[in-house]
Amino acid sequence: MKTFKTVIYWFLIFIAVIQFIPVDRTNKPVVKKDNFVNVLQTPENVQHILIKACYDCHSNETVYPDYAYVAPVSWSIKSHVTKGRKHLNLSEWGTLNKDLKKNMLENSVHSVKDYSMPLPAYITRHPAANLTKAERSLLADYFEGILKSNKY
Ligand code: HEC
Repeated sequence: MKTFKTVIYWFLIFIAVIQFIPVDRTNKPVVKKDNFVNVLQTPENVQHILIKACYDCHSNETVYPDYAYVAPVSWSIKSHVTKGRKHLNLSEWGTLNKDLKKNMLENSVHSVKDYSMPLPAYITRHPAANLTKAERSLLADYFEGILKSNKY
């Protein structure tokens, strides 16, 4: 029993201490001329879907939930955001070259259609991101339309 208490004691100390490790949650400012929805004049209904299902990991407009402030959960969330932005940052769309843009649009169509995006773990905590079939089609059709127009 004594060892058990000691373990719990040190575990709590550990959890308390790791709260002091800083996690950078600042969002870089969004530059309109590079912002996907401004560049492509995305219709409101599609913007709405992007904001609720993709923005937290693929833009500089991440909204962190309360539990994102408690380590070690905060580390895992930050890691998703960092990785997501590294692959595709809609706020910095204008800085990508045309090949990359094409690639991202194609990947977005696939990931929305095959349900790999938004990440399933995210959906469990963000019910609004659990896109309906209609919303997925709308988003995929929108990306495909841009690809066809060849203007991106
Ligand atoms: C919870 C965070 C999160 C959300 C929400 C999210 N993604 Fe992702 N996304 C990631 C991460 C992390 C990756 C990197 C690959 C991986 O780890 O699976 C990724 C990768 C991608 C890629 C692949 C890029 C490449 O280089 O191939 C595309 C495209 C993509 N996401 C599109 C979307 C779209 C579209 C949405 C909204 C419908 C969305 N994602 C929502 C986290 C997220």
